[in-house]
Amino acid sequence: MRVLVTAGPTREYLDDVRYISNASSGRMGYAIVTALQQAGHTAVLVSGPVDLAPPVGCEFHAVESTSQMMEACQELFPGCEGVIAAAAVCDYQPLKRVRGKLSKSGEPISLEMIETDDVLATLGREKRPDQWIVGFALEAQNERENALQKLRRKNCDWIVLNRPTAIGAESNTVELIDPDGDVVADWSGPKSEVSRSLVDWVLQNRGSSANSR
Ligand code: CTP
Repeated sequence: MRVLVTAGPTREYLDDVRYISNASSGRMGYAIVTALQQAGHTAVLVSGPVDLAPPVGCEFHAVESTSQMMEACQELFPGCEGVIAAAAVCDYQPLKRVRGKLSKSGEPISLEMIETDDVLATLGREKRPDQWIVGFALEAQNERENALQKLRRKNCDWIVLNRPTAIGAESNTVELIDPDGDVVADWSGPKSEVSRSLVDWVLQNRGSSANSR
């Protein structure tokens, strides 16, 4: 089975040298790739810039911006049975990218930002009935309800709820939520172990998700 995995942050450039991004290390997504491979599957990894080497044997696609992640995922998703979207995608991009380098003017400046494309929501719209989608939800308050709304908005089969402390950390504490809002599993520990549990669970239950019934 081929599974698409997104990982790491994206970057949105203000000018040719400065960008907005986030502190995602890519560890969770890369650990998911390794777990898929250990379970005998082919992982197709679309990753933003991180300090990790792509796991040996995966099909690797390096991207930088959200629009590049979108383009790669739209091309690759049709050839995969499912997607696990662990990337910490930038929600906003500067309205304009300045060519060259912005110079200091001695005055405060403000930056006009617009929303980026939503990669996962797009895959959710393009999903075939035989495909499945696992999203991630990073929530700081009203966590389960927000995660469930996100699952529904993005047409996911399951969503992995985690919290801001997960960003850049070695370990993670997550809950897996289904389209009925039920917590169907929860795991805590090093990202490698949590990833193995998540992959095992999804591979066992992928035929029975509420969205594919
Ligand atoms: N995601 C995406 N494209 C975006 C934003 C998010 O594909 N432009 C994906 C992430 O990879 C993750 C899921 O959507 O699987 C939820 O990401 P999260 O940051 O929790 O939520 P947002 O949709 O960005 O909403 P908000 O920041 O308002 O909570």
